Amino acid sequence: MCGIVGYIGKNKAMPVLLDGLRKLEYRGYDSSGVAIFGKTLQTFKAVGKIKELEKVIGKNKSDGTIGIAHTRWATHGKPSKANAHPHSDCTGKIQVVHNGIIENHAELRELLKKKGHKFHSQTDTEVIPHLIEDLYKGDITQTLQEVLQIIKGAYGLVVFCQDEPEKLLVARCGSPLVIGIGKHETVIASDVSAILQHTKQVIYLEDGEMAEVGYDNFRVFDAKRNLIKKDIESVLWNIEEISKKGFEHFMLKEIFQQPESLKNSFNGRISFENGTAKLGGLTEVADRLRDVERIIIVACGTAWHDGLVGEYMLEEYAGIPVEVEWASEFRYRNPILNKRTAVIAISQSGETADTLAGIKEVKNKGALVLGIVNSVGSTISRETDAGVYNHIGPEISVASTKAFTSQVAILALLTVFLGRQRRMSLVMGKRILKELSDLPEKIDEFLKDNNIERIAKKYHKAKNFAFLGRKYCQPLANEGALKLKEISYIHAEGFASGEMKHGSIALIDKKFPSFFIAPKDSVYEKNLSNIEEIKSRSGDVIAITTKGNKSLEKIADDVIYIPKTLEMLTPILATIPLQLFAYHVARIKGFDVDKPRNLAKSVTVE
Ligand code: G6P
Repeated sequence: MCGIVGYIGKNKAMPVLLDGLRKLEYRGYDSSGVAIFGKTLQTFKAVGKIKELEKVIGKNKSDGTIGIAHTRWATHGKPSKANAHPHSDCTGKIQVVHNGIIENHAELRELLKKKGHKFHSQTDTEVIPHLIEDLYKGDITQTLQEVLQIIKGAYGLVVFCQDEPEKLLVARCGSPLVIGIGKHETVIASDVSAILQHTKQVIYLEDGEMAEVGYDNFRVFDAKRNLIKKDIESVLWNIEEISKKGFEHFMLKEIFQQPESLKNSFNGRISFENGTAKLGGLTEVADRLRDVERIIIVACGTAWHDGLVGEYMLEEYAGIPVEVEWASEFRYRNPILNKRTAVIAISQSGETADTLAGIKEVKNKGALVLGIVNSVGSTISRETDAGVYNHIGPEISVASTKAFTSQVAILALLTVFLGRQRRMSLVMGKRILKELSDLPEKIDEFLKDNNIERIAKKYHKAKNFAFLGRKYCQPLANEGALKLKEISYIHAEGFASGEMKHGSIALIDKKFPSFFIAPKDSVYEKNLSNIEEIKSRSGDVIAITTKGNKSLEKIADDVIYIPKTLEMLTPILATIPLQLFAYHVARIKGFDVDKPRNLAKSVTVE
């Protein structure tokens, strides 16, 4: 989704801004722009990739040491030069980059137009510089504070005013912003990955806070305009983690990272002796968790699929009823909650607007709110009562891979933890943990030797795909379909194997292949009947099954073998072929795997 970079310092701003924008490319965008202040104020904008912006900048490289830049993911107004940020007032002296949505933009625009302001874009953002211009009496900090009382909605903002060129103004409400404190330079960004190259010392702004930053100084104010003290925090991620390390794409790198990322998710969290999980982030709420009678999991996209796997695990092994909700719907429900309900938000980025809105609502109603989040210090991690971090480093590819396997692993740890607080035996706890700790080696084994690229070559021309699975692997059917849709733009649908015959089987013919996730588990025989149903309607079948189970070779057109593990942990292994299949199909079709069209990595709007 939209990205922001701002720079004020002793060095040239342009390379820092452009490099920052490139680091944010993975979030998804359709146009970009820069405003830079040197001898004069210059702005450059382009539709498309950052290289288009570089072409527009051409030889014009400014010596300016202060500037703001933006990648835009269109919400109000199509992707165009006019709609690209930064946006300015009538004089061009005030420049603004903005993430989020200003909800009262229409009425503000009308009001400002009546006062004679001329608008040049269709964006909601443009009301901000005009409003600043309207109220400005020589103090940009004070003016922005007034503007923040008027605008409604979500924003991460950086403002530059040519009349006060020694500072940038930064404000946050619902859209993340981080201020990197370097040596004689300050770098602002919507995501730490754009800052890491310059400094690991950062300030995370909270909702309602505003900051005035110079190259060597900063002041932070709360929503009531009081000066407040903020801690400077250290980012734990390294710059190497946001490079491709020799892989053609971030997605491939992240798929291959999974043996290691999975290990990092459970390292230090397993007590074999006690057959339980040691989840430091839950210690303070452990007693409350013992009394929990119901769990609601709230998430979006891939994280929602994890939640569905978690539902099977938690109900079967911890004996707790679980519901899994799309955050975008949950936020509008009036859920029935009490002190014995735990709501778990699952989010890789920790910034997804719908997930955040969902948990804010339930916090007011007294439920215990937990997070399974990857991004340390992110908004969701700070809004929850307690939680567990994934510890997998940044996930850059829009199509989520290592976050999925890690989230399922954390849900397995949580299942053991809650199960052992209840009826799970020591032996069962030990067994699950042993199998979990064996998974990295099994993923490695699969990654080293598989037939996925060949299968992708065979089927990449298909226009439709069905993905089918049962029980623990049913959510994987949805996840496999989502992966393929996201990056290869092939229509794909995920089904519960048993549900196919109730209508959707009408779609099947010679040109409509089905991907079955059919490990040798408690529902294998049932899956087998569903495979036969597809085959008897001339549909091709690609089946994922457990190593050693040769019986499928007689029925399916192609078989993929994954190592054996516990039924509840199978999704962690079975998702790898689905990730690789989507990856290879997209690559063969020549698509930009890491930056799929129309998508954003972190969706910070509703
Ligand atoms: C976006 C991404 C998906 C991701 C979903 C939830 O739609 O494209 O890959 O699964 O957001 O993201 P989160 O950061 O909350 O896990």
